[in-house]
Amino acid sequence: MSSSQICQGMDCSKPATLQCPSCLKLKIPNSFFCSQECFKKNWATHKAVHKIMAMTSGPAAEEGGSDPWPGFKYTGPLRPHYPLSERRAVPAEIGRPDYSETGIPVSEQNIRSSSVIEVLKPDEIEKMRTVCRLAREVTDLGIAAVKVGVTTDEIDRVIHEATIARGAYPSPLNYNGFPKSCCTSVNEVICHGIPDQRPLKDGDIVNLDISIYKDGFHADLNETVAVGKVDADGLRLIRTTRECLEKAIAIVRPGTLYRDLGNVIEKHAKSEGFSVVKTYCGHGIHRLFHCAPSIPHYARNKAVGVMKAGHVFTIEPMISEGTWRDEMWPDNWTAVTADGKRSAQFEQTMLVTETGVEILTARPTKA
Ligand code: MF3
Ligand code: CO
Repeated sequence: MSSSQICQGMDCSKPATLQCPSCLKLKIPNSFFCSQECFKKNWATHKAVHKIMAMTSGPAAEEGGSDPWPGFKYTGPLRPHYPLSERRAVPAEIGRPDYSETGIPVSEQNIRSSSVIEVLKPDEIEKMRTVCRLAREVTDLGIAAVKVGVTTDEIDRVIHEATIARGAYPSPLNYNGFPKSCCTSVNEVICHGIPDQRPLKDGDIVNLDISIYKDGFHADLNETVAVGKVDADGLRLIRTTRECLEKAIAIVRPGTLYRDLGNVIEKHAKSEGFSVVKTYCGHGIHRLFHCAPSIPHYARNKAVGVMKAGHVFTIEPMISEGTWRDEMWPDNWTAVTADGKRSAQFEQTMLVTETGVEILTARPTKA
């Protein structure tokens, strides 16, 4: 380092040779001080620089990253591990949804208040079948990458690569500004967890929520998986949540009221002593990532609409060990349980057929 550095201390312009150790680790340049004394005097204001740097992309502050909001009152033991990795690129030749550059899903907002449920035409249904089959492949590759010690950012990389390898755009990327290509929700995270530098731990549960866009249509599915050896209650939570989704799908057919899905889901969740998250709902999906109908997962809801052949939507119950109440991290994405206990989720995209249902994102049965 040259000796021409100037002290960063307030009202100090002495030559400086001592570099702030945190800045050194974070590779923040020009962080020199003239003396230990000046460094200490300016610490309270200087340390904000580390926080800002930790929020943006770059090398990890330390092995496994760091908490960007140390003063925040977390509801449970999980912490974010910043910095996030750099934004992943999507090749120019891949078709994108309208929000990919601006972050604003304009077409979704134009019809936001509409409760009209589209009936898809045969050619549109065929496109939904294709994108949903590919989304299932991507999901299963993501699930195969889940292991003790693997970071959620690495899982995001696997999912991003698998998505673009299929000529598809990862729908979460820049959707309302979401920074990554999938959601990874660990333990007390209900949904919309942002992949980061945290290595998965033995005993975690993690939900991988994958959405992709191809040929003008979106697909959306998720699963919760056990990392290493999960305790009996955790496994029971995962199993019950999967069953809640299965029991709801079992009543999907023309004529069923959308509002009845929540009754089936809550009844089963309650029978195991679990609760149903109310803030986040299933949704219509086709040319738009999220549209009518809105499908609450809790009982006695007032959802509008009757199922008809040609409707395509998701059911995605989030089931919690303790309270159904949710809170949000300061990133404005990560939804966590208010009591810090675990939450699990399963999701499929499905089509209402003349005779019942076709689960478009189903795992293919081995021949
Ligand atoms: N995939 C989620 C869903 O099931 C939505 C994620 S939006 C994101 O509806 F921006 F967080 F990715
Ligand atoms: Co969804």
